[in-house]
Amino acid sequence: MKKVQIKMCMGSSCFSRGNNKNVEIIEKFIQENNLSAKVDLVGSLCMNKCSRGPVIVVNGKEHFGVTPDSILDLLRFYFKEKKHAEQCDIH
Ligand code: FES
Repeated sequence: MKKVQIKMCMGSSCFSRGNNKNVEIIEKFIQENNLSAKVDLVGSLCMNKCSRGPVIVVNGKEHFGVTPDSILDLLRFYFKEKKHAEQCDIH
């Protein structure tokens, strides 16, 4: 079972513009949905894309301008996809 890799930019620009809140929302989401074994959540230094931040990289795909309002949609997207993929494996 492949884990979802979430890398959050914790550079000062991304952190102060939203990733400080996003990290709390992600941790809560992981806890509430019992996903800790299925996620690798790591922080990163500045990714040199500050003007497009807050930056979050999920499974190698960069997401820009991720706000506390849009982060849940992003999480639901990745975890729904994963569930779907698992179901497909069964058949
Ligand atoms: S602080 Fe995130 S890209 Fe620079």
